[in-house]
Amino acid sequence: MTEPKRYLITSALPYANGPKHIGHLAGAYLPADIYVRYLRAQKKDVVYVCGSDEHGAAITIQAMKENTTPRAIVDKYHAMLKSNMADLGISFDIYHRTSEPIHHETAREFFTYLNDNGDLEVKETEQYFDEEANTFLADRYIVGTCPVCGNENAYGDQCERCGTSLSPEELINPRSTLSGNAPIKKATKHWYLPLNRHEDFLRQWILTDHKDDWKANVLGQCKSWLDAGLMPRAVTRDLDWGIALPQNVEGGKGKVLYVWFDAPIGYISATKQWALDNDKDWKPYWYNEDTKLVHFIGKDNIVFHAIIFPVMLKLHGNVLPDNVPSNEFMNLEGDKMSTSRGWSIEMDDYINDFVKKENGGDQMVDALRYYLTAIAPETKDSEFTWKGFQDAVKGELVDVFGNFVNRAFVLMHKLCKGKVPPLHAALLDETDKALLEEIAQTKVTISGLLETYKFRDAQYEVIDLARKGNKYMQEKQPWIVAKSLETNPAGQQLIDNCLHICLQLTANLAVYINPFLPHAAKKMCYMMKVVDKMLDWSNAGKPNLLSVGYSLREPQLLFRKIEDSEVTEQVEKLKIKSEKIKMEKENKEAAEKVSAAETAAAGEVTETKKPEINFEDFAKIDLKVGTIIAAEKVAKADKLLKLEVDLGVEVRTIVSGIAMHFDPSAIVGKQVTVVTNLAPRKMRGIESNGMILMAEDADGKLKFVNPDEAVKNGSGVS
Ligand code: 2FM
Ligand code: ZN
Repeated sequence: MTEPKRYLITSALPYANGPKHIGHLAGAYLPADIYVRYLRAQKKDVVYVCGSDEHGAAITIQAMKENTTPRAIVDKYHAMLKSNMADLGISFDIYHRTSEPIHHETAREFFTYLNDNGDLEVKETEQYFDEEANTFLADRYIVGTCPVCGNENAYGDQCERCGTSLSPEELINPRSTLSGNAPIKKATKHWYLPLNRHEDFLRQWILTDHKDDWKANVLGQCKSWLDAGLMPRAVTRDLDWGIALPQNVEGGKGKVLYVWFDAPIGYISATKQWALDNDKDWKPYWYNEDTKLVHFIGKDNIVFHAIIFPVMLKLHGNVLPDNVPSNEFMNLEGDKMSTSRGWSIEMDDYINDFVKKENGGDQMVDALRYYLTAIAPETKDSEFTWKGFQDAVKGELVDVFGNFVNRAFVLMHKLCKGKVPPLHAALLDETDKALLEEIAQTKVTISGLLETYKFRDAQYEVIDLARKGNKYMQEKQPWIVAKSLETNPAGQQLIDNCLHICLQLTANLAVYINPFLPHAAKKMCYMMKVVDKMLDWSNAGKPNLLSVGYSLREPQLLFRKIEDSEVTEQVEKLKIKSEKIKMEKENKEAAEKVSAAETAAAGEVTETKKPEINFEDFAKIDLKVGTIIAAEKVAKADKLLKLEVDLGVEVRTIVSGIAMHFDPSAIVGKQVTVVTNLAPRKMRGIESNGMILMAEDADGKLKFVNPDEAVKNGSGVS
């Protein structure tokens, strides 16, 4: 496009359903922040918007997990995400939230506009419905057996074990996560965005108009979607958490906008709120062709930002994104990063462990920003390791960048009376000129890279320029020249030239590093006694940023090393965290299996659901009455009790998933009926030798099945 008049930059709205990890930061936030800081340094008209995505099943499921309301969940995590991003230097102009009324209004208006123009289709389809909970079930509320790998707990949209994308219809034995019952099919009406009507436009716009400026991974994904043929996508849901359809829409009662319809509209409502807060007009940003709109996202969001939202924007008369830079994934210590598996570094944890712990917290913000950009998964997946982090900080920030700046300042104080020395032009040699040329050329190189979203290479150029500075100083060796000043006083002019150039390079390094490591740049300004305005991009490449004779401060430490003990501690912490989560999951699954088996044994699953058996089948079950003589909770297992049951001739250890229903001390002495010939099973490392029969009453409470009067332990049941 021709020179844009204004820029609107967005980062994907993170779900406010939990903490986010540094992989998210590297994917959609840090690159956008670098880009925005680069634009601001050029005094461009730029607005950078983001906010929390507060609707959808991601939120309601987390509310169930935490046993609270969706509102409480979004309030808690919105606050956390907002402050985490600010702590890590992500400089949004606004961090909004989709639960705000202005967003609800904006999203409803958008829907109405499309609906009134005939751009949506209404269809009635059969969808899964939970009769007990009296609700339709969103994909995430249906679990069942994965047809691909047999995982019994695959979700209606995806199997988390094998990664296959699924639809609820594909699950074998689907069940509702709300009641545990098998759902029925029921007719329901929904609004669809007929993407199929827009295939020609999308092909032209993406695969032709943007074939040279969009990243290969984005183009590749779009092409495969287009080649597979686009289908109408439902933009409404039967849910009670989300943006209600406009009241005047017939048949819209009880329905909400699909979260992926409302979330990207969040970029518009955030812009509106920003404009209100700053007395600006939001409309040009979304309606004028000379706006450059760029969406920074992770790769799992490509289809929404490159295909679906652009169709919505086109129909609504808005500008289309100029680019959708998307990163691949960042792995961690040899495995996929995942908060749910505990294999992740949460932004919040990093901030607590490194940023808020000590005075030099800002340095550790920059250190993280540096490493994440240096290993950014721009073209393929990459890997974060704590050792790699330590090596990069030491090898590049401390030993190259920090070292150069420090040496320039120390030598200037020592050899040039703490002032910027003059430049003696007549004495400039080829080495001096070559470095001055590099300083100027770097501006062109970095600009070119940043404008094509190659942040990793751009940052490399900054470090490389500092490396060249070190090499230059090593060649010039002003400290050696200083030793012979008595015999060769003209040497001072050579020292002046060297340090003059090194200090001008330092000032340039501050300008160049600013979009990436804003704290280091600021500190360098302080050391040079210049105002932040010096960091304007128009100053990049200039050989005269610092005036001759200007006295500078003492150098300050820009970066610190990361100790071996910190690396070990973090790697250990990661292992412990993931192990703990794994154990909790196993524990939950085991308890669910035990309780399902016991509930089934208690007759909760009615005869109609089980095939008929003959007496021989029944006779195979060895049922005996016994007395619980000891009961205790199983460590780290909410649902399990370890019981010792006296069966007359023997005492059996039985692990039972009834801890939520009974106080261990209250059941000692109770008689119970035990299936004694069930194959032994290990749970939480304890071998369980039998199963206690339970009855479940209407309110879900479990009761023992036992004789109406005490019998001898070991009595048979038939
Ligand atoms: O994948 C996600 O985390 C979504 N919450 C991203 C939404 S981006 C945009 F559409 F708002
Ligand atoms: Zn599977």
